[in-house]
Amino acid sequence: MPKKKFVILTGAGISAESGIATFRDAGGLWEGHDVMEVASPQGWKKNPNLVLEFYNARRRQLHEVQPNAAHFALAELQKYFDVQIITQNVDDLHERAGSKNVLHLHGELFKVRSCLNPKDVKYWTTDLNVGDKCTKGAQLRPHIVWFGEDVPLISDAINICQDADLFAIIGTSMQVYPAAGLVDYVRDDVQKYYIDPNPHPIDVAKLIVIAEKGSTGTARMMQDYLKIITN
Ligand code: OAD
Repeated sequence: MPKKKFVILTGAGISAESGIATFRDAGGLWEGHDVMEVASPQGWKKNPNLVLEFYNARRRQLHEVQPNAAHFALAELQKYFDVQIITQNVDDLHERAGSKNVLHLHGELFKVRSCLNPKDVKYWTTDLNVGDKCTKGAQLRPHIVWFGEDVPLISDAINICQDADLFAIIGTSMQVYPAAGLVDYVRDDVQKYYIDPNPHPIDVAKLIVIAEKGSTGTARMMQDYLKIITN
């Protein structure tokens, strides 16, 4: 029998226990930075050095952190389910934990792209500076979806959600669209979990909310599902 499709939407909270700050919690990244200065096309035009420094600091930190129990638990789920992760995170902690199918809705820190051709993307793990150019001579920028920009992978993500047999949301404030609207594409009969120590109210059918951090909440959800599989 084919494995059931388990779709999991993750946000900054799943990487919090790895030591990466979330955006909107107290002390989060958007408390210390003006979003429009560091994460928008206007900010990039006004002060590219500031934008690059913001992402260089994030990229440097990514070398220092490790996946946590929640990332590893999702990788473990692949033994039992056809798991597809849709993450809003730009870190690579799901992949490092062993998850195979990860769609990065908001881009990836370890990639950069040409300002001339958005399809010219390359792997990049060190600082990016003004003057770093693509082969055509155009400035490179972080491969990140900024505020006010299209989310190129949203239709792929919608298709994945429409096909889900099981669904979970982990560590996201569900404030940023279109990502927060993906749950509305999941069928009403599909069991859904929302794991977050401070969950945002969501109005969807068959929702179980686990108000815990990612590691313990994910372990609890797995216990429930493994019971279903072994029965
Ligand atoms: P937020 O910072 O908005 O929300 C983080 C969520 O993680 C909150 O709901 C917290 O309660 C929860 N949280 C905190 N600690 C946790 C833990 N240990 N385990 C589980 N959850 C925990 O981050 P996102 O919802 O991911 O976009 O934000 C969405 C997008 O907004 C980001 O991708 C980013 C940001 O602006 C871009 O940069 C394009």
